[in-house]
Amino acid sequence: MEVIQLTEQQLISLMKQMSLEEKIAQLLQLATPFFEGAKSEGRITGPMASMGITENMVRNTGSILGLTGAEEVISVQQAHMRNNRLGIPLLIMADIIHGYKTIFPIPLALGCSWDAELAEKCAAIAAKEAAVSGVHVTFAPMVDLVRDPRWGRVMESTGEDPYLNGEFARAFVRGFQGRDLSGDSDRVAACVKHFAAYGAAEGGRDYNTVDMSERQLREYYLPAYKAALEEGCEMVMTSFNTVDGVPATGNKRLMRDLLRNEWGFDGVLISDWGAVKEMIPHGVAADEAEAASKAIHAGVDIEMMTSCYVNHLQQLVESGLVDEALIDEAVLRILKLKQKLGLFDNPLRGANVESEREILFCGEHRQAAREAAVKSCVLLKNEGVLPLAKEQKIALVGPFAQNGDILGPWSWLGSQEEAVQLYEGFTRIVEPLQVAVAEGCGIESASEEQWKAALEAAQNADVIVLALGEHSDMSGEAGCRADIRLPEIQRQLIAALKPLNKPMVAVLFNGRPLDLHGIHDQVGAVLEAWYPGSEGGTAVAELLYGLANPSGKLTMSFPYAVGQVPVYYNYFNTGRPQGAPDAQVRYVSQYLDIPNEPLLPFGFGLSYTSFSYGEISLSSEQMTVEQPLHIKVRVTNTGNQPGEEIVQLYVRDMAGEVVRPVKELKTYRRIKLMPGESHEISFSLTERQLRYHHADLQYISDAGEFAVYVGPNSRDVQELRFTLMK
Ligand code: BGC
Repeated sequence: MEVIQLTEQQLISLMKQMSLEEKIAQLLQLATPFFEGAKSEGRITGPMASMGITENMVRNTGSILGLTGAEEVISVQQAHMRNNRLGIPLLIMADIIHGYKTIFPIPLALGCSWDAELAEKCAAIAAKEAAVSGVHVTFAPMVDLVRDPRWGRVMESTGEDPYLNGEFARAFVRGFQGRDLSGDSDRVAACVKHFAAYGAAEGGRDYNTVDMSERQLREYYLPAYKAALEEGCEMVMTSFNTVDGVPATGNKRLMRDLLRNEWGFDGVLISDWGAVKEMIPHGVAADEAEAASKAIHAGVDIEMMTSCYVNHLQQLVESGLVDEALIDEAVLRILKLKQKLGLFDNPLRGANVESEREILFCGEHRQAAREAAVKSCVLLKNEGVLPLAKEQKIALVGPFAQNGDILGPWSWLGSQEEAVQLYEGFTRIVEPLQVAVAEGCGIESASEEQWKAALEAAQNADVIVLALGEHSDMSGEAGCRADIRLPEIQRQLIAALKPLNKPMVAVLFNGRPLDLHGIHDQVGAVLEAWYPGSEGGTAVAELLYGLANPSGKLTMSFPYAVGQVPVYYNYFNTGRPQGAPDAQVRYVSQYLDIPNEPLLPFGFGLSYTSFSYGEISLSSEQMTVEQPLHIKVRVTNTGNQPGEEIVQLYVRDMAGEVVRPVKELKTYRRIKLMPGESHEISFSLTERQLRYHHADLQYISDAGEFAVYVGPNSRDVQELRFTLMK
């Protein structure tokens, strides 16, 4: 269908008809309850103080947050079109992070699939469900690099690697936005967040200070946001934290100089929730007026959920402290996005009550959620206990044995009641009689009866499957923990069952890498299921019974103990590395009481089959700028069932201009092999992939020696050397 598009000139003349007050109100974003036609209260986060909002402001507001559901969207948008003098439609935005109604595994889990196409597919389905329910923009993807599992929001990221995060950032954007937002009302605009470096909050405590060198920022933290923008992501959200002493939302160097001028981003920049006003407690603005001035000067177009702009910008313009041109710039960007989404042609866009009924949570989408969950789980340990045999009598114990809280944080539209619980998944495969289910304990406490029932069930079983984890409020926003072990009662449950000497399997439902002390060494097998989403129970049961073969690999290291945190694979060697041939016993960089290495490294994950790696070979010992290197390795499925392996290639610059990580992921391949089948993988590596930010921030490579590593994870690798000639 032909969509009526306004030209830029027409948008400018529309803007010229707006009064200053109307223009400023375009920059305001409010939650649903403020609006005429709204019937429900969206689930919203953050403080909602009295904001001095007038009815006139609401009539002219540019965008709304957390409004979903075709019927309500239609009613609010229609009321708005009646109330708005110039007929400018509302932009409708919501957090659709890992699914709308059909919930996919949390992003950290999706990352562990190392399958960007899968992520794209999940995002496209989420977009389709959101769009038919009236949403125009999703506040996703979140692509913050994360190294500290105490931070609750690691569940929203794809992990600790800049390259992999970039690949997923692109995939999510492609999935949400498709190719043509105005022609394809099945898609929604994406908003990459949280710009910048929110994942580096000190001590893993949410909203906390971030302070790092510009080189570190550019080298590790910025690439994933940039990747999203290269893919055409329409919006950017500021982060809550400081960047070099200035809160991101008022940080002119970050937003205006880097994002806008250097990277050329001309889309809409939105503050995070309340972040404009938070410049006051941060201590860089004396009052709301100063906060508004800082944010608009930094280039923030939309103020989310505080009213510094609407209450102060007019006065600031009139007194000459803010140039009206800054406001015009912001308004025009917002109007352009509305026009790109086709809202001037059809303010209701994809919202459709009938189609919504057919599309949401349909069989096809649930099937995709199941596939995604299968590929996202990571087998962390298996001493021959898995897969389970259908004849075995199972005791299914633990707080997640029959628990719908497997959707994870940021799944506010998903239904825990409709999620497939683990027990249900079991009974789809084996007779209910084969599985005795008894929780034993809740997430953090137990009753005597519960405890006794679990012990009894376990006594009569051949295998004990423990479904353990954190409830979903223990991660996500403001879900930080200093002790990242499983709650004590669950560890006690394992200890109580251990003397039965039965094979034990732990299945973990959680949103962060855990400190697995008292679990990993106590059980025969561990399957990390994360929060697997709406079809979690089906997927996990299929994996446990070997109807599907685990293939996920960790994208964030699992610490040996929380005291190591942050622990990540791409660290620097230091001048006194542990284990060097001439290393001293004491005066090396190490802990006296625990190893330096994490319990489970980045890239790690097991399968029910086994893969052997032949010797790696290089096409040459020298690389030049024109002549890439080819690295070959033959991988064979040496087990007796089909399986998928993720083959990883890392590089180290042996003598850089500045210190380089001991390993950096450069490329990877997910391959499927039948039993006995073998495949020769050929990776190519170019000089471009060896570039990094030098001391003067130039992005170039160093001539000299490099190590190249290939293997099934970041630890167990083969190494060869080559020289880059320049
Ligand atoms: C979160 C954002 C989210 C926003 C809107 C904030 O508290 O940090 O990630 O998009 O709320 O719900």
